[in-house]
Amino acid sequence: MKTLYIKNANDKIGEEIELFGWVYRQRVHGGVVFVILRDSTGIVQVSIHKNNIDPDSFNNAQKVAIESSIRVKGKVVGDSRAPTGIEIKCSEFEIISLAEKFPIQEGAGKEFLLDIRHLSLRSLKLTEIMKIKELIMQGARGYLQENDWHEVFPPIITSAACEGGTTLFSIDYYGREAYLSQSAQLYLETAIFSLEKVYSLTPSFRAEKSKTRRHLSEYQHLELEAAWMDAEDIMKVEEELVASMCREISEYKGLERFGRKEEEMILNLPLQRIKYDEAIQIIQKKGIDIEWGSDFGYEEEKLLTSEFEEPFFVYDYPIEAKVFYMKQNPDGKTYACADLLAPKGFGEIIGGSQREDDLKALENRMELDGIDKTPYQWYLDLRRYGSVVHSGFGLGIERLLMWICNLEHIRDACLYPRTISRVEP
Ligand code: 4AD
Ligand code: MG
Repeated sequence: MKTLYIKNANDKIGEEIELFGWVYRQRVHGGVVFVILRDSTGIVQVSIHKNNIDPDSFNNAQKVAIESSIRVKGKVVGDSRAPTGIEIKCSEFEIISLAEKFPIQEGAGKEFLLDIRHLSLRSLKLTEIMKIKELIMQGARGYLQENDWHEVFPPIITSAACEGGTTLFSIDYYGREAYLSQSAQLYLETAIFSLEKVYSLTPSFRAEKSKTRRHLSEYQHLELEAAWMDAEDIMKVEEELVASMCREISEYKGLERFGRKEEEMILNLPLQRIKYDEAIQIIQKKGIDIEWGSDFGYEEEKLLTSEFEEPFFVYDYPIEAKVFYMKQNPDGKTYACADLLAPKGFGEIIGGSQREDDLKALENRMELDGIDKTPYQWYLDLRRYGSVVHSGFGLGIERLLMWICNLEHIRDACLYPRTISRVEP
């Protein structure tokens, strides 16, 4: 069993250690072979000197191909010329599995890299991103545990649409039509009557017909729902949660590679809140022809968010821009809802709202929107048996990660991105 990881080698200067991992780079320089060894914790240089090692080990080092799995033994020395400031002076070099010629070359195209994601995900960049993804969820769980939120596990196969029919994936469920979940919200709403404050992390599915750099067909959705909270209360939860997720990675060493500074991950609360009306004006001033009533598309959000340095809320969207379950404001024109937008062109990371808790108002809205109430009877029941003010939201983990890591495209925020054009590998 492997007992030592590359990150621990720094504390072992002067000692003889054994490491297992994969060959990241290899170069032969006369009587010396330099191998950069990679494991889950980083890379380290290994030097193999012909004169100081048995012939078998030297041969192995000379012929080893990149991505072969290997075992090395050697003394750790400080060396400022080595990429991480230390080097292993090798005394044993064993090839565990000699790799075939690795298909990924310097400068490989994006599509090709996606075609062989099962190999390209070994890259240092993707490794960092996956670690940061794990860390932001740790930050979220820390906050949720500390504040007494209950984790629940809603179904992924559903019979009622949450976010409208246009992005639904339907499946054949023993001869009946069912759908892949777009959001756990409606189920989370049922759970607040017993657990009060609930959350879930589930995959959500959207049949997004357009290709954009921030839409996935399958993404990780962190959703919260709470009884006794109104639109204002839930915004506070949203910003505290996001602040906690960001704080978790603020001291993460790998952040600089994405052009991010530690300080940027410490959010200044409360985050700025602007009304939809004001957002529309900002966008219109930038020369975009958008009417009051439309939801923001990619271009509009890009322009709007370029004005900001930190995530910010846009609240009170018009009814025609959002979804039937939201609580109508007394003005009769807007919903008590808010989106959290990431700055500098990244756009929406959270969609949230207070929910309509009045049976008549909800039924009315569904009728006006032409929604068949039949599959929603259980949902309407919640307004029949002890209805309460309640609110919730959904956060797209990959959207947040995309902003944090400054990613060009959301697919790099996933192990295996699912988009309109890709379901393999
Ligand atoms: O704004 P959305 O559609 O809201 C809901 O689904 C609510 N029912 C959530 C709730 O209140 N429980 O989606 C919420 C978030 C978006 O803000 C975005 O971050 C992410 O989910 N999202 C996507 N992420 C990646 N690819 C897509 N196609 C996404 N669609 C939404
Ligand atoms: Mg939304």
